[in-house]
Amino acid sequence: MRAAVLQQSGQPVTIEEVSLDEPKHGEVRVRILASGVCHSDLHVRDGEWPRPGPFVIGHEGAGIVETLGPGVDSAATGLSPGRLVALSWYAPCQRCAACRSGREWLCTDSGSSRHRLTDGTTRLHRPDGSAVYPYCGIGTMAEATVVPASAAVPMPDGTPPEVAALIGCCVSTGVGAVTKTARVPAGSRVVVIGLGGVGLSVVMGAVLAGASVIVAVDRVPAKLELARELGATATVLAGADSEAIDAEIRAKTNGGPDFTFEAIGLAATIEQAIRLLPPGGTAILVGMTPFGVRASFEVFPFVDGSRSILGSNYGFAVASVDFPRYARLHLAGRLPIERLVERRIGLDGVEDAFARLRAGDGLRSVISF
Ligand SMILES: NC(=O)c1ccc[n+]([C@@H]2O[C@H](COP(=O)([O-])OP(=O)(O)OC[C@H]3O[C@@H](n4cnc5c(N)ncnc54)[C@H](O)[C@@H]3O)[C@@H](O)[C@H]2O)c1
Ligand SMILES: [Zn+2]
Ligand SMILES: [Zn+2]
Repeated sequence: MRAAVLQQSGQPVTIEEVSLDEPKHGEVRVRILASGVCHSDLHVRDGEWPRPGPFVIGHEGAGIVETLGPGVDSAATGLSPGRLVALSWYAPCQRCAACRSGREWLCTDSGSSRHRLTDGTTRLHRPDGSAVYPYCGIGTMAEATVVPASAAVPMPDGTPPEVAALIGCCVSTGVGAVTKTARVPAGSRVVVIGLGGVGLSVVMGAVLAGASVIVAVDRVPAKLELARELGATATVLAGADSEAIDAEIRAKTNGGPDFTFEAIGLAATIEQAIRLLPPGGTAILVGMTPFGVRASFEVFPFVDGSRSILGSNYGFAVASVDFPRYARLHLAGRLPIERLVERRIGLDGVEDAFARLRAGDGLRSVISF
């Protein structure tokens, strides 16, 4: 089958023929229908998160179950051939203390963090027999994949595959940051900095939570337009004069913000999200920086004003519960996830999609198979 392979972080992706073994114990084989191109793939591609390759990249995918491996209980998991599943990039081990306390986004024994299946191996091989690894244990930029059953979440009937794919990363990350990590109360005043797939999902989450003020910030005017269509009450075009931008954001929050969300992963905008907080405010850091980046803030007013900073991995997603919940909200017309999809591309379009993400150009490119 064809797959987008990253030989080494920092190098371009190549489209290769690879083979996929049958699923082993506790695994399922999934034929991929859609895979979004997320900025986290780009961090790896560009060497900002160096990882040893080669691997099949991609972690925002959905597809159809083809085969259940031994020991996968169809009745218990809801998995059966023909079923549409969204894939989780953090397959929980379901045994560690974090998993047992219901916080699987903190799982300490997930094969996903090692880019391996649960048993530490891979089902992917090059024609010469050498191993290729699945990025985050799922490697979705391929015609098919074998994943741990706990990474494959059955979706409600009628869920469009592209929507299911985006629920697998940006939607769960952004909507969950609002509703699960921050638990934004109705009527809150919210600022969202960075309006890619993740930041616009934060906007949708803030609408869902009943925020009364949603100020959306980006340096690309077209992103502001879409944020407004999705429910932002005001927008601010980011630019070089940070004092003027801060003043404009504050002026538009009607005495807030109660919450600021950073959805880019830059030290400058992380510091801005913290600096914008009035006493009692909370900054939620969702964007991921290159490894090693540090940010700073003035401590006295932060403590004196009882401000908070929260880190949010995967929107605190419990995939088996939250993925179908977000899909049901979509089907009920309350999460217009399809608006995030700008372009449908083939596997060969991945490098071009990365170039667009790098430039901040456009929204989600989705590889459709
Ligand atoms: N916390 C998590 O679990 C998690 C999950 C998925 C993605 N992420 C991270 O979230 C971040 C966003 O991902 P994405 O796929 O939405 O990325 P994206 O590239 O689609 O979006 C980033 C947005 O930020 C804007 N931007 C860039 N620099 C800016 C600046 N200086 N001021 C204002 N706007 C600016 C861009 O125009 C773009 O709209 C990435 O760092 C990604 O790795 C985190
Ligand atoms: Zn992602
Ligand atoms: Zn675990």
